[in-house]
Amino acid sequence: MDQIETPRLLLTQLTEDNLDDFHAIWSSPEATRWSSRGCLKTIEESKEQMKGLLVSNNPHGLNYAVFLRPTSTAPSPTTRMIGIVGVFRLTPIVELGYTFHPSFWGKGYATESVGAFVSRFWELRPTIRIMTAKTDTENWESRRVLGKCGFKEVGQEEGIVLPALGVGRREAVVFEVCAPRAEATLQNP
Ligand SMILES: CC(C)(COP(=O)(O)OP(=O)(O)OC[C@H]1O[C@@H](n2cnc3c(N)ncnc32)[C@H](O)[C@@H]1OP(=O)(O)O)[C@@H](O)C(=O)NCCC(=O)NCCS
Repeated sequence: MDQIETPRLLLTQLTEDNLDDFHAIWSSPEATRWSSRGCLKTIEESKEQMKGLLVSNNPHGLNYAVFLRPTSTAPSPTTRMIGIVGVFRLTPIVELGYTFHPSFWGKGYATESVGAFVSRFWELRPTIRIMTAKTDTENWESRRVLGKCGFKEVGQEEGIVLPALGVGRREAVVFEVCAPRAEATLQNP
């Protein structure tokens, strides 16, 4: 199974072994505030949702569990998954998703994971040229992560329902990033 190392993190492909940590994230009202699925209440609901992200059930998806690497001050390897990053499908568009446990927010981990994931994605899926990400207009931290990882705003999408925010329909910002070779072709056609 593929894995990605960054200075502080280890990303390994998501497996059933990550279910408890997956549920800890997806049952958090804060972490699921911007999700159209909303907060998951039971481990069974989480298991069902996680199923579609496992490579065994969804060979076209590519989803990683994010772990902290050992450091000199915390030398024991941590086994707790702190976040998930990946794409669920390749068609009709490749859409990036990521969610981290609130205990680990604000430390740059999402930026480090998304940046490393996107680079690896282009290597593993060389025929794909564009990745999309959508995030609520008021999800400033997510917009910031995307901007720091090279995504550009390309439009808006209306009519999204977020259960945590009530019945009203909301707007999302649509972002895109191009594969480096697609970018080079655009600059030197
Ligand atoms: C979005 C999310 C992944 C960010 O995780 P994180 O590890 O805290 O992100 P990082 O620390 O890498 O970066 C967050 C950036 O947002 C900035 N930020 C945080 N709150 C902000 C706010 N209210 N307004 C503007 N910027 C904000 C931080 O300062 C940081 O930028 P900086 O490094 O330039 O200072 C995390 O909040 C999360 O899991 N949210 C719920 C799920 C979600 O929204 N997923 C995205 C849906 S596509």
